[in-house]
Amino acid sequence: MNIIGGLASQLLAGRVAGAMGSNLLVSEFKRFPDGELYTRILDDFAGDNVTIIQSTVNDSDFVALLQLLDACSEAARINVVIPYMGYARQDKRFKKGEPISARAIARAIKADNVFTVNIHDESILDYFDAKAVNLDATPMIGKYIKNMEFKNPVVIAPDDGAIGLARNAASDLGIDYDFLEKTRLSGESVTIQPKNIAVEGRDVIIIDDIISTGGTMAETIAMLKNQGAHGVFAACVHPVFSNNAVLKLFKAGVRGIIATDTIDKGVSVVSVAPVIAAALEAI
Ligand code: R5P
Repeated sequence: MNIIGGLASQLLAGRVAGAMGSNLLVSEFKRFPDGELYTRILDDFAGDNVTIIQSTVNDSDFVALLQLLDACSEAARINVVIPYMGYARQDKRFKKGEPISARAIARAIKADNVFTVNIHDESILDYFDAKAVNLDATPMIGKYIKNMEFKNPVVIAPDDGAIGLARNAASDLGIDYDFLEKTRLSGESVTIQPKNIAVEGRDVIIIDDIISTGGTMAETIAMLKNQGAHGVFAACVHPVFSNNAVLKLFKAGVRGIIATDTIDKGVSVVSVAPVIAAALEAI
């Protein structure tokens, strides 16, 4: 199998290729003077099976993924791994005239197999014109947390949508988990309803699929600190960290941040490469 790492997922593609003992193809990425992207796969692959690994954190990443797909049109089989899929939170039409952006993105990706990692909503998988499978990174986060030293820890999800993540991460550790109730007021602002969870004097690991503006995490951290939690840690699969999200978390009193390498950031201490490699080997 040939692994092609997109610009946004070079580290993860390298790790997946290493885990599988596969051939890692090198591509180049440039921009034309007018700003358009230029993408070229430099190594030979014609006639072979290829796997493109590219997170679509921004619009350019999505265009680069389409370019890589087109460059692979002569390959015998094409697998696409989208470790973080941008636009996945736009999975419904909230107002008349809106697109279902996640559907528009998914429909443009033509491949034999598509893999996502903790996609925002699994219903999006049905929009792909390919066999689409969502992989779960939370056991890897659970394993990482297991090697840390905590004081009477509890895992908490900031809303009921993330309860499955908390359950999976906590089950490996044999510790308690719970969830809070979140109301989103705007793109950047949320309120978290206080709930009677025994956090006083305990370390708390808050887990969510995405940290984007950091609004959800910062509110949750501040509330749990107010309730007497000892150390509060923020864990997520996808560290989008737009704008000043990291500062917001530290301002709220976070003790540490744990994230995966679906997006390559300084806090990406957990690799999802073994999960992706296992899924590709099972095709
Ligand atoms: C929302 O449903 C997601 O699970 C996350 O809670 C959300 O995307 C986090 O966004 P932000 O960091 O902007 O609050």
